Amino acid sequence: MSAIERDVVIIGAGASGLTVATELKKAGLTVAVLEARDRVGGRLWTDDVDGAMLEIGGQWVSPDQDALKSTLAELGLETYPRYREGENIYLNADGELSRFEGEIFPVPPKTEAEIVTLIEKLDALVAEIDPDRPWAHPLAKDLDEISFSRWLETQTDDQEARDNIGMFIAGAMLTKPAHAFSALQALLMAASAGSFSNLVDADFILDERVVGGLQQVPLMLAERLDGDVRLGQPVRRLRWHEGGVTAATDSIEVKARFAVLAVPPILISRISYEPPLPRRQQQLHQHLSMGFVIKVHAVYETPFWRESGLSGTAFSPYELVHEAYDNTNFGDSRGTLVGFVADEAADGVFALSAEERKRRILTSLSHYYGEKALEPVVYYESDWGSEEWTRGAYAASFDMGGLARYGADLRTPVGPIWFSCSDMAGKGYQHVDGAIRVGRETAAAIIAAARA
Ligand code: FDA
Repeated sequence: MSAIERDVVIIGAGASGLTVATELKKAGLTVAVLEARDRVGGRLWTDDVDGAMLEIGGQWVSPDQDALKSTLAELGLETYPRYREGENIYLNADGELSRFEGEIFPVPPKTEAEIVTLIEKLDALVAEIDPDRPWAHPLAKDLDEISFSRWLETQTDDQEARDNIGMFIAGAMLTKPAHAFSALQALLMAASAGSFSNLVDADFILDERVVGGLQQVPLMLAERLDGDVRLGQPVRRLRWHEGGVTAATDSIEVKARFAVLAVPPILISRISYEPPLPRRQQQLHQHLSMGFVIKVHAVYETPFWRESGLSGTAFSPYELVHEAYDNTNFGDSRGTLVGFVADEAADGVFALSAEERKRRILTSLSHYYGEKALEPVVYYESDWGSEEWTRGAYAASFDMGGLARYGADLRTPVGPIWFSCSDMAGKGYQHVDGAIRVGRETAAAIIAAARA
């Protein structure tokens, strides 16, 4: 067991932990970053799969994400827009395909009117929510006691309107069924992106990608930290008292004045604490869980859908793959589609053999793009649910009632222990922008505490 001493030990080398370390080092503090995996980046991971460069985790950048954008600029990383020329596709409950442009799906006029009204109502509610303090809304408790699906039922009898609005938050964002999270949690998700309208606008929320992949952010941050990041070092124990901490892996002990737990909140309880964390933290961490989604990558010899005037953007709350996009890499002559299978649909296909799962997923893609979608040259499913150091995708959210009850304490430090992760962000919640934003705020608070 080797022992080292630093000002701050950071547990987790995702975008958040590496941002904390970078900012602390700039302020003259010494750091050690301990990372469980044999790579940095956590939920950001770009890999070569059968000759195709795939972004297995997070990839898109939206215009409001100024924390992420400033880091990209600082690192000199270039972005490029998602391909979106041409018409989008919508499939209704009867499997009928329509092409459309704009944000509102081609649904019957009465349903369209209901969707527009619902978006207006949600935008008005979201405008009243502070993403950093959703629990402070006067109706927070009431909104946290009703599931999002039940709330939608109180607003409209139109099933297709409910299914579509539900999909934007449930399958597409929190990746949990709409009966499993509250209306308040749904409002936080929308508030974190500025408005509900922003969330339903694919051109906004999935605007750009980074040339070479978004994992370059943590890779470049780690490189600049020059030896302060230790890979393959899962932290098992954290001894702490008001004056400091000792973090122990199987082979290293780091003694420090402060610790930052830069891990998804569902993994906090995998570490043994001496003494145990306070009752409040032990309780609140049990009320968060990861969503679950399969990100499916299908690479073709050409982006064949473009030839028939399609953008590649496709939606249906009634399809196994509820949303799909043109995800062709910058400068690549091959065409890539990315699709998502969320929550209970993902449970269902994981009960099948890998071969049958692939067949069903490609069949769903063929409902949008035709028979050619059945024959990709590279096929890959991002399966974050089986990753020990993540355990789901995209991120963690509270169960019913949990946000109003515990949200305010999620980031409250415990003695010398601080918490930093995208799943604890207000603006940029569940996104890389939030990971960086919270990372900067945590670093600033530690710098102030260190100087006090
Ligand atoms: P992250 O989970 O990345 O990092 C935590 C780190 O802690 C990990 O490296 C982990 O190994 C480590 N760790 C855990 N326990 C440990 C222990 N005991 N000891 C040591 N290390 C430990 N976002 C976005 O902005 N745009 C997008 O398009 C998408 N899309 C998307 C798709 C998919 C499939 C996923 C899974 C996620 C996204 N996201 C996204 C979300 C985005 O990737 C995510 O919010 C951030 O990368 C999270 O960064 P953090 O640093 O907060 O946590």
